Amino acid sequence: MMSPQILENTLYYETKLKGWPWPGLSSISSTSAATDDAIAKHIQSIDPEECDLYSEDGFWVADFGIVRNQLEIWRRKLPRVKMFYAVKTNPDPKLLKYLSSHPSKIGFDCASHGELADILSLSVSPDNIIYANPCKAPSHIRYASKVNVKKMTFDNLTELYKIKTHFPEAECILRFKVSKSAVCDDDSVGAMYELSKKYGVTIDYSQELLLHAKVLGLNVTGLAFHVGSGQWNVRSYTHHIEEARKIWEIARDVGYTFTVLDIGGGFMYSNFEEAADAVNTALDKEFGDLIGRGEVEIIAEPGRYVSAPAFTLTTSVIAVRDEKEEQSGKRMVYLADGIYSNINAAIWPGELTFPTVVKGRRMAGLKSTLPTSSASSDSGIEVDEVEKEGLDEEEEEGVATLVKGGLQEYSIWGPTCDCMDVVLESAPLPRGIEVGDWFVFKDLGAYSTCMRTGFNGLSTTHKMYYINE
Ligand SMILES: Cc1ncc(COP(=O)(O)O)c(C=O)c1O
Repeated sequence: MMSPQILENTLYYETKLKGWPWPGLSSISSTSAATDDAIAKHIQSIDPEECDLYSEDGFWVADFGIVRNQLEIWRRKLPRVKMFYAVKTNPDPKLLKYLSSHPSKIGFDCASHGELADILSLSVSPDNIIYANPCKAPSHIRYASKVNVKKMTFDNLTELYKIKTHFPEAECILRFKVSKSAVCDDDSVGAMYELSKKYGVTIDYSQELLLHAKVLGLNVTGLAFHVGSGQWNVRSYTHHIEEARKIWEIARDVGYTFTVLDIGGGFMYSNFEEAADAVNTALDKEFGDLIGRGEVEIIAEPGRYVSAPAFTLTTSVIAVRDEKEEQSGKRMVYLADGIYSNINAAIWPGELTFPTVVKGRRMAGLKSTLPTSSASSDSGIEVDEVEKEGLDEEEEEGVATLVKGGLQEYSIWGPTCDCMDVVLESAPLPRGIEVGDWFVFKDLGAYSTCMRTGFNGLSTTHKMYYINE
């Protein structure tokens, strides 16, 4: 069993952050013993003094036991809602294969030709795919026509003309705009990503758009909305399911009998039960009659709910600047990954989970070359007073709960030469982090690997360990 070793080698294995100025921290799940095991083995195998090129790079552990669990919870909590996994959140080939062969016949939400082709290559039936991008390139619509993926969303008149020209047999689904102000007052939290800034027809214009579709002779089969990715306010589901029923009736007046209601994404593992309760109550109230008569198919496009908690990133410290060398007084740590690689989440408030720091194999000569400072480069477990200067009361209290471990203030950077490449501007972390140590970011499976770039010559592939497949 390797996990105890990782604990032994950990500077501070579980750094819980409370009260630190950090919007919407979402670290909830914890890694499994098998994940810890894989992390420990990898870390112990890398010696910064002699490792191969790129072996300090980040690596992933994907725990399919967590995916399986997420699917099971979905089945239990939302039995009437068929899942179309949003491929864009994490198109890991093994994950897609796993989902495509799952007995619950999961569908897929694709955003482009590339995703359609990937999913079709897994022998998924075109009926089990929705091309859920309301603004598609004409050549991609032609491809959808060629491969007979009929379900596709739209939210504007030009898109209707494109569909009429390239795929007149498509089953069009009208995406309407969600309203944050209808469910949130100024201070309350909404979604991490307000997708309605970009997509969705206004409810006021929906009748006119449907009339155009009718004149064009297009087959409009249903409605879609997306409450925004990472939605904390579950009232958004309630409100927009109500709005959907209104548009459903508008469509009936125009001459369309809809059969599909797509309630989109926004689901997170952290507030899923609450969201599912809101969805079920609203469906009973607004669509209970249609559900009872079997006249509506309800679908959803969760992405992060499935992928985020299953993937853990571990990445190494490649450089450190001592606080004495730095005006800010913070110790600066440079990781092998940053916002242009696997940690794009750092640019979105609330997306990144707080890291755990694990002690790795360090450079032998390092200690003697360092100026004597508060940094400790041996066991790391020290009881020390943390710098509290400049912190307000609430922050101070948050830090106080961590003082036992001996923390100091850090700024954490990515590896590129761009000053935007910052992972954490300010964070209390264990004293004495050195080159060769590792940062573990849990729950990072959504919008991470798919956002990697080759900026500054970064590698766009990283080692992936799969467990509980
Ligand atoms: C159309 C569509 N469906 C589903 C998703 C996935 O939603 P989530 O990130 O909330 O899981 C997105 C995310 O951008 C989306 O644009």
